[in-house]
Formats: sequence, C-alpha cells, structure tokens
Amino acid sequence: MDVTITPRQGLKGLFSVPGDKSISHRALFIGALAEGTSVIKGLSRGDDPLSTMRCLRALGVEILDQRDQVTIVGRGLKGLRPARNELDAGNSGTTIRLLTGILSGQRFDSTISGDASLRRRPMKRIIDPLTMMGAKIKATENLTPPVAITGVPKLSSITYELPVASAQVKSALLFAGLFADGTTTVVESIRTRDHTERMLGLKVVAGGSKTVIEVEGGTKIEPRDFRVPGDFSSAAFLLVAGLLVPGSDLTIRNVGLNPTRTKLLDILCNHGANVAILNREVIGGEPVGDIRVRSSELHGDITLGGNDVAALIDEIPSLVVAWMFSNFNLTLRDARELRVKESDRIKALVVNLRAVGLDVTEFDDGFAFRGNNDVLGGVIDSFDDHRIAMAFGVAGLRTKEGIRVQRADCVSISYPRFWDVLQAM
Ligand code: S3P
Repeated sequence: MDVTITPRQGLKGLFSVPGDKSISHRALFIGALAEGTSVIKGLSRGDDPLSTMRCLRALGVEILDQRDQVTIVGRGLKGLRPARNELDAGNSGTTIRLLTGILSGQRFDSTISGDASLRRRPMKRIIDPLTMMGAKIKATENLTPPVAITGVPKLSSITYELPVASAQVKSALLFAGLFADGTTTVVESIRTRDHTERMLGLKVVAGGSKTVIEVEGGTKIEPRDFRVPGDFSSAAFLLVAGLLVPGSDLTIRNVGLNPTRTKLLDILCNHGANVAILNREVIGGEPVGDIRVRSSELHGDITLGGNDVAALIDEIPSLVVAWMFSNFNLTLRDARELRVKESDRIKALVVNLRAVGLDVTEFDDGFAFRGNNDVLGGVIDSFDDHRIAMAFGVAGLRTKEGIRVQRADCVSISYPRFWDVLQAM
C-alpha cells in the first residue's frame, strides 16, 4: 500500500498515541513470569507487542485480550512450557532478544525466528554474554536468527559491561539473570532506556560515568496492574508535525516522559521549539505528561554523536524531518547502530532525503545535510520500516506538493492507525 500526504495548515486538537512499545513488551514478559494474574491497561496493539503475546501464548501463557485491558495469567519463573513449533517474533528485535534471555534459562529447547528484516539483525551481542552465563544458543553462520536454544538446568551469574549501548541486550541479560545462581550485574557506560530495571524494581547504582544494575537469581515476581503510558517515540511524529505545519497548536496526552527517552524534546526546545509539558505525574514508576506543541521555526546547526545517539535512537527519523525544513545543518556521527535497526536507517534516511532533493553526505556512522524550507516533495521508500514511513509521512504535511510513501503498511508495527490520524489531522 502507498499513502500520499498532502500539505496542511493549522493542525489543532487533542491526540493520544498507542501505548509505549518497550513498556508493553516488558509488561507482557513480567506478567508471564509473575506468580498470579496481572492486568495491563494501555498495552500497545502494534504488531511488535502482538508478536510477544503470540510467543508467550505458544509457551503456555494464558492471555485474555479485551478491548480496554489485557489479563495475563503468570506462570512463575518455572512454569513456561515448551512451544510445539518455532516461535515467531515477527519484525520485533525486542521480542527475540528479551525472549532469548528468558528461554536461555529454561530446561527445555526453543527456536525463535522472525520476518526477513529480523533475520538480518545481529544476535551475537546477546549470544556472547548469555553463553558466558552457561546458555547454549546457536544461530546462523552470520549470527543472525533463527536462534536455537538448548535447555540447561540453571545459568550462572556474571558481571558484564555492555560493549554496545543497547537496552535490548541489557534487558536480555537482566531477564536471564532471574534464572541464574546469585547476582547478575550489568554495567552500562552509556545510559539506555531503563524500563526493565524500573519495572522489575532492580538495584541501580549510578556513579561516575557508569551505571551498575543488579538482578538476583530466583527473585519471585508479584503480579500487578500495569498502566502503559503513550509511546514517546510515536508522539515524536505528531510533535514534529505540530512544529512544522504553520498555524498548529496541538496537545498529545498521557505520553511517557522517561528521561532516557526524551532527548528529542531537549534538542528541539534548545533550538526554538514552542513546546510545553502539562499535567506531569508518575504512573507505575514512569513519568508521564501531556505535550503541547505550537508551530515553530527551528534554528541553529546541530551536531549529534556519542551519548546523544542512545537517548535518541528511535527519534532520529523524526529529528531529521524536523531539520529538513530548517535552513540549518544537521550532522550525525557515532550512529552505526542505526544500520542494524528494522532497516539500515542511515541508508533509508540518506536515500529518501536525496529523493526529495536535498544534498546529503553519507558516513559509515551517520550523515550530514542542510535543510531547505522549500522542499517540494516526492516519492519515498519506507524500506518496510515503520519509523521511516511515519517520519516522511509527517514531512509530506509541510512540503509544497506532498509526499508519497511507498509500502506504507509497516506503520502497524508500532502505530496501526497512524495514517488515519495523519489524514484526519
Ligand atoms: C528497545 C530498545 C532500542 C530501541 C527499540 C526498543 C527496547 O533498541 O531501538 O525500538 O524496547 O529495549 P536497542 O536498545 O537495541 O538500541
């Protein structure tokens, strides 16, 4: 399916976005391992969390999906059952990596695979440390999925410093740590999203340049009521739409504002964005608020790299679109990780920025371009990547002639109604 987004004026109103994808996955995993029944409100029904749900059901977890809530009957740490077939993680890196952590500590064998994009994604980053813990995992020659996990009686705890800033790797190890003898310690030198530590109530010591997270093997997980806030990474697209479209004043309600996720807000506000956060509160241990945004002209060159990248990892497509219409430079370095997301996002962004007429320099680990207020529009390729499709859809609102997004259905990964919302804005 292709979608064409035409120029607009004056976006107004109140919006909400789907539940946070990262928190949705974790609520499902934690609910499945709890001793008793949990209820999840606000769970994202994007394809990725649905992949986690499908895998958990195949492992014997009873999950009742009603309109306004999901009920999950936890099986405790020892209650998962072997799946009959290969588990299908779809497009979801979070599903395959966190589930590999959990299944590494089971006594039975499992295999996890996914779609063509997932089967290109690197698993060495989790296989290496999980193997150090005593897990038995095989993948393809390139260390990509499918992953075949052989059951073991127990894992051993390790202390591991993450060589790559990845919340998925950290979380795979923390979940595996529940099935290990003693205390598993994960050390981060670049802070990544901390939902797993918050939701499992783990000990976190942040000192100097490092953060140390500990999990005790065998910790009993209590069932609970989860309330999932709106996904900041989805709100980012509406936020940028409100900034770019002249005469806009819109509010996105109930958005997760965890500081490990909101670097985009800091950057936009430092460069002239008219954004206010209203109704701040803490729900389920996560800061939440409403984001009010009014049209703004962004100004100033921007150079991003180092620690910025992890705190901005899913928002880089939105940020690029925000700068696309400024008359300033954006330079991104140290972002090699973007090459191993749902698509090679460096390539996808470079190809599409060129397709709408911008002059872009590509680096191994990033790119640089200068924005232009007068972008006409054009045809862009989503590369079957939800965030690429949504970012350029938003760009279409501000172009002179509109943007056609090819293969636009992929938005269902995180924001199934995105095109309806954008067309109705
Ligand atoms: C996620 C972590 C990030 C992010 C992904 C979701 C998570 O990946 O890009 O969309 O839920 O832990 P990395 O931590 O591998 O960068």
